Amino acid sequence: MSKPSKTILRALAGETLPTPPIWMMRQAGRYLPEYRSTRAQAGDFLSLCYNSDLAAEVTLQPIRRYGFDAAILFADILLLPQALGADLWFVTGEGPRLSTIETQADFEKLGPIEAIHETLSPVYETVRILSRELPKETTLIGFAGAPWTVATYMIAGRGTPDQGPAHALMRENPKVFDAVMHRLTEATILYLGAQIEAGAEVVKIFDSWAGSLKGAAFERYAVHPAKRIISALKAKYPHIPIIAFPREAGDGYIGFARATGADCVALDNSVTAAWAAQHVQVDGCVQGNLASSHMVTGGDALVHKTREIVQALSGGPHIFNLGHGITPDADPDNVQRMIDAVREPVPA
Ligand code: CP3
Repeated sequence: MSKPSKTILRALAGETLPTPPIWMMRQAGRYLPEYRSTRAQAGDFLSLCYNSDLAAEVTLQPIRRYGFDAAILFADILLLPQALGADLWFVTGEGPRLSTIETQADFEKLGPIEAIHETLSPVYETVRILSRELPKETTLIGFAGAPWTVATYMIAGRGTPDQGPAHALMRENPKVFDAVMHRLTEATILYLGAQIEAGAEVVKIFDSWAGSLKGAAFERYAVHPAKRIISALKAKYPHIPIIAFPREAGDGYIGFARATGADCVALDNSVTAAWAAQHVQVDGCVQGNLASSHMVTGGDALVHKTREIVQALSGGPHIFNLGHGITPDADPDNVQRMIDAVREPVPA
C-alpha cells in the first residue's frame, strides 16, 4: 500500500516527524463562540448531535479557525446506549442522565446490536459530509466510548466520581455486568465499522474511567474489550489506524498498545511526557498530553510546557494533544498560542 501523506496518518504509521501534528480533544466545544451559536440554533446538545449538517458545521469550526491536522466527528459516546434503547437526556450545567441498569430485567430492555444503525444513521451522514468538506490535508477521526466507560454511565444513569454503581454491579451481579459489557463491545464494533464505511480515516476509543479498574479487572474490562474491538476492526479494515485512550491507567499504559493492537495510545495528565517516551512510545505512536488548565491560564507556562512535551516526545512518533478535553472556560487565544509553540522553531 502507498505511504500516507497526511501528517496524522504518517505519525500513526510510526513515522517520527520534525513537527508533531496537532488536534485537541473537545476542539468543537463551548469555549468557541461559533460553537455556542450553532448549538443555540440546534436547540440543545443532543439535537446538535443528530443534526448532520450542524454537527458537521461545528466539527469544521475549529479546523477553519486553527487549521488543526485532524477533525474529530462531533457526536457523543452516550449516543450508543441511546441507540441500544436506553433513555438519554442532558441536564444543563450538570451532565448526562440515562435510565439505569440494576437487574437482568433492565438489561433485557436493551435492543439488539443491529438495531443501533436506525438511531445512529445521522451520525454516519455527518461523517459523509465531513469526508467531502474537510481540507484534503485534514484527517477525519471517528470515535466511540470504550465498553467500561459507557457501562459506567448506563449502570449508574449518570456520571459518578468513583464509578461506584458499576463496580457494585460487577461485584454483586457479574452475570448482568458481563452481559452489558458484551453487548456494548459488539455494538461498538458495528458502530465504529459504520463510521469507517462512511469515511472515518482513524477511530479512537475513549476509556475515560479506565483508571478505576485495578489489576485483573483492568485486564478483563479495559484491555480485553479494547483488544476484541481492535482485532475485529483490523480484520475488516486493516488500513484504519486506531487510537486507544485508557485514561488514568498509570502503569497500565505500559504495554497497552502491544496487548490491544492499538496503533497509538493517548496519554492523560497523570503521566509525564518523559516517562511516556521511555515506557509507552517504545511501542509506537503516542498522543498528548498538555494539561487543559493551560488553555485557561495561558502565559509563559503554556509555551514552556508545550515545548517541554514536544521535546520529550521528539524521538518517536507523536501527535500533540491535551491530556483531556478543553474546558468551556478556556481562552480561544491560548489555543493559538499552543499551536504556535508546537509549530514554531524554538528561538535561539
Ligand atoms: O472531542 C470532540 O470535540 C468530539 C466530540 C465529543 C464530545 N464528547 C462532545 C461533547 C467526544 C469525543 C465526546 C466524548 C465523551 N462524552 C466522553 C469521553 C471523553 C471524556 O471527556 O472523558 C465522555 C465521558 C462523554 C460523556 C459526556 N458528554 C459528558 C459527561 C458530558 C457532560 C460534561 C460536559 O462537558 O458538559 C458530555 C457533553 C458533551 N459532549 C459536550 C460536548 C461538546 C458539551 C455539551 C454542550 O455543548 O452542552
